[in-house]
Amino acid sequence: MAYTVPKLKDHSAKALDKASDNLLAALEKESKAVKNEEEWKIFRDRWMARKNGVLTQINDLWLKAAPVEAKPVFGQKVNWLKKHVEGMVEVTNKRLLFAQLPAKHVKSKKKIKVETIDLDAFARDLKHGLIASQSLDITLPGIRRPLGSEHPVIKTIHEIVSVFRNLGYSVQEGPVIETDYYNFEALNFPPNHPARDTQDTLFIACQESKPQRERLLLRTHTSPVQIRTMENMKPPVRIVIPGKVHRNDPPDASHSPMFHQVEGLAVDTNITFCDLKGTLDHAMKALFGSSVKTSFRPSFFPFTEPSAEMMVSCFICGGSGKRGAEPCRPCKQTGWIEILGCGMVDPNVYGFVDYDPKKVSGFAFGMGADRIAILKYGVDDIQLFFNGDVRFLEQFG
Ligand code: PHE
Repeated sequence: MAYTVPKLKDHSAKALDKASDNLLAALEKESKAVKNEEEWKIFRDRWMARKNGVLTQINDLWLKAAPVEAKPVFGQKVNWLKKHVEGMVEVTNKRLLFAQLPAKHVKSKKKIKVETIDLDAFARDLKHGLIASQSLDITLPGIRRPLGSEHPVIKTIHEIVSVFRNLGYSVQEGPVIETDYYNFEALNFPPNHPARDTQDTLFIACQESKPQRERLLLRTHTSPVQIRTMENMKPPVRIVIPGKVHRNDPPDASHSPMFHQVEGLAVDTNITFCDLKGTLDHAMKALFGSSVKTSFRPSFFPFTEPSAEMMVSCFICGGSGKRGAEPCRPCKQTGWIEILGCGMVDPNVYGFVDYDPKKVSGFAFGMGADRIAILKYGVDDIQLFFNGDVRFLEQFG
């Protein structure tokens, strides 16, 4: 006789245990009897269907009907039974999938301990047709696992980094969650200095009880890794620092609260602004083609002095500001594209890392990798990089 959910007259814990033991015994028996997918579906619906499945019935006939004082115990038990039944239905399905292993595997199946097989992975592969469910036909073409391709921003970062690696630079990384000290103070942004306002910072909540320099934030630039590196390394230093940064910018076609920078730092004896210009000019030619020109305009960053913004001649219109009769949009018809911030390391910064500003000098630069990817690939919306739409991303493979 098929199991039916009884009404309970006795609402004691003991009676409940007995009823639930009967239910579990029926569950196990029925699970064992399931032979194929259709039977499994019937089994699943009998136990789990929202309308009149066994689980719904025990909810109505046991839990809802229980007197108030018995509700907590009944509630717990019914919840537990629910999990157990759901688990059993799943396990029954996996057992069926396992039984469908191709004949080649079936012979040795007895020898394979069930626990050593990743049943989840097996079920997934079977579903995706990666394992033939009946028999093995070796004349069929193989199933290709699609190969991923490098994300365009990562690809751009790799290109930039490799230009500098070829110049003898090594790569450093640092944490995305930074302290106020590394993101600001040691980079010569004193507490409350207005220059901090130029970096729309995302602060981590509930940090007020800490001294300001220990408070956490999402780094707004990769420059803190300059400090972290100089703390641990004596000059000469030649490093590039790729990484994620965050700013409180609402997303639109040209802004994203998360983006990527590649930073550079060179410190040694006798490094001058000429070295900065020569290095960056070489790097831009390597990245955008040997015909691009570079131009430097004065700027301000607290951690460099003097500071500059570097422009490259527009590699899309060749610097003319026009594409045929049309105006060139990427350079806004100016013939120049602003590509990075740079400058000579401010002597104050050396004070924070125990370098002697009388003996050493150096330069630093930082560029937005996403922006460079946008320009290189002619993409008109930065959001496309982060939406994860494979149809967009696979074009860069
Ligand atoms: N960190 C600066 C920014 O994010 C860029 C920069 C890096 C400027 C290194 C000078 C030197 O705007």
